[in-house]
Amino acid sequence: MKKMTSDELRESYLKFFESKGHKIIPSASLIPENDPSVLFTTAGMHPLVPYLLGQKHPAGRRLCDVQKCVRTGDIDEVGDATHLTFFEMLGNWSLGDYFKEESIGFSFEFLTKVLEIPVEKIAVTVFAGDEDCPRDTFAADVWEKHGIPKERIFYLPKANNWWYAGPTGPCGSDTEIFIDTGKKPCCPNCSPADDCGKWVEIWNNVFMEFNRTADGKFEPLKQKNVDTGMGLERTVCMINGLSSAYDTDLFAGAIAKISELSGKKYGEDEETTRAIRIIADHIRTATFMIGDERGVVPSNVDQGYVLRRLIRRAVRFARQIGCDPARLVDIAKIYIEQYKKIYPELGVNSGRIVDELAKEEERFSKTLENGLKEIEKVLKYVQGDTLNGKTAFRLYDTYGFPIEMTVEICREKWYGVDMDGYKKAFEEHQQKSHAGAEQKFKGGLADSSEMTTYLHTATHILLATLKKVLGREDIQQKGSNITPERLRFDFNFERPLTDEEKKAVEDGVNDAIKRDLPVTCEEMTVEEARRQNAVGVFGSRYGEIVKVYTIGDVDKEICGGPHAEHTGQLGKFRIVKEQSSSAGIRRIKAVLEPSA
Ligand code: SER
Repeated sequence: MKKMTSDELRESYLKFFESKGHKIIPSASLIPENDPSVLFTTAGMHPLVPYLLGQKHPAGRRLCDVQKCVRTGDIDEVGDATHLTFFEMLGNWSLGDYFKEESIGFSFEFLTKVLEIPVEKIAVTVFAGDEDCPRDTFAADVWEKHGIPKERIFYLPKANNWWYAGPTGPCGSDTEIFIDTGKKPCCPNCSPADDCGKWVEIWNNVFMEFNRTADGKFEPLKQKNVDTGMGLERTVCMINGLSSAYDTDLFAGAIAKISELSGKKYGEDEETTRAIRIIADHIRTATFMIGDERGVVPSNVDQGYVLRRLIRRAVRFARQIGCDPARLVDIAKIYIEQYKKIYPELGVNSGRIVDELAKEEERFSKTLENGLKEIEKVLKYVQGDTLNGKTAFRLYDTYGFPIEMTVEICREKWYGVDMDGYKKAFEEHQQKSHAGAEQKFKGGLADSSEMTTYLHTATHILLATLKKVLGREDIQQKGSNITPERLRFDFNFERPLTDEEKKAVEDGVNDAIKRDLPVTCEEMTVEEARRQNAVGVFGSRYGEIVKVYTIGDVDKEICGGPHAEHTGQLGKFRIVKEQSSSAGIRRIKAVLEPSA
């Protein structure tokens, strides 16, 4: 096997596929656009869904890239040798161009010629077949032709060898490529499906030829596509003969810094190693989230909440190993330097990364110690083995402990948490604060999560009003970023707005606010939303059931929420700035101010 650094692997992957007629495209944002069904980009194909469905891609029919991805489903597992919340996915695509034979050929050539992996170390799985799609003897034959013997070609069912973009949308059978780690087989018929550690999956070639409909049918797509994904971290680890992604060059700088700051050695003992890995992983992910072109800031909702959890968890583990949490920014700086040549946005946004990280650390560090003492105290007196929901809520509300963190701390001490009780306490509190919101807002004191909610509702009204004032039904949201202070909204329009138009937009939004329209939410299928002409149908094909928010007679939009209950809560809308964002895209920054 050829030893390579992560930089070398990225480069040789892209160069290889370029030599096979693929255009290199840049990584898309970590924050999916117009898609309320997922918080983060989780795979390279995600931003390409419209093209897999048949839309023409400007760069052609053969593409390749390295995509930033976040998956936080296994956040609790981070700390072992393999789990990561951020990773880079190397991918190549055929949009209705080549199919199985060429795709397998490219993968085989790259693995055996460029990475010099011996054929004996490669095993593959192919789809076993069912009523939706026949057994993939074709793919198996191609593998065999390249020299993979029958004993290392495994037929597996949908549970293993099928890839879905989401509950609906493009999907298809796949062939997965595994590398033999040299470990003993777990049984005489050991296969990659056993997941015993003998085989590590490094590449997944999906043959996307179906569209899964809301009623669960598999309809042939207009074109047959190939979507492949190879994990960068995992592959670097494997070709260099390492047993953990944390031992690769991607983490070397950060881990050395954490060791220096804490005075603890990586590998010293299990607990220290786990803590160092958690800090290294979480700060890397936070750096990419804040530094993204559609950067996120810590908050109590959606992406902001995931970011908050990551930072706060890193702070807790930093303290545990004696690393001053105020120095976590030093680790972020290492990542910025390391990655900015590949992801220039990290360099451009370095100030924001450092600021937001420092602010969040400060906010949390102030209450963390008292919160930890409080947990210790209540657990001493707890009846039975469960922490009650009210206390869990108090830890959240007073000490800023994300509920997942409370659960984790309790679990370490063998206690559970009454989650139903927590949810109840949370909802009761929300109702109370909603009732008081109008009052507080009058005095300019709406809390940050409420302000975000109101600004979000204002964004919907803004889009509807822009369409009306500019007389253009084709105007769409091209980006949205909301902080408690302001909204920022990007839309397609080719020239600056005139002063009259800006005034008309403000008046239109304020008119909707004055009419105090109800904001209602309904769940329905995408098909029903389409029938009702809801905005945002295109991006929502993943969700069988979507939430549709209706603002009186002004707007109907697919959206994950949350929103104000009625528009009268919003105050007065004012445009602060209207400017160009990029070619053909305008950007509006606007605020809500207490109404006089
Ligand atoms: N979409 C597939 C995956 O994420 C292949 O890129 O594994």
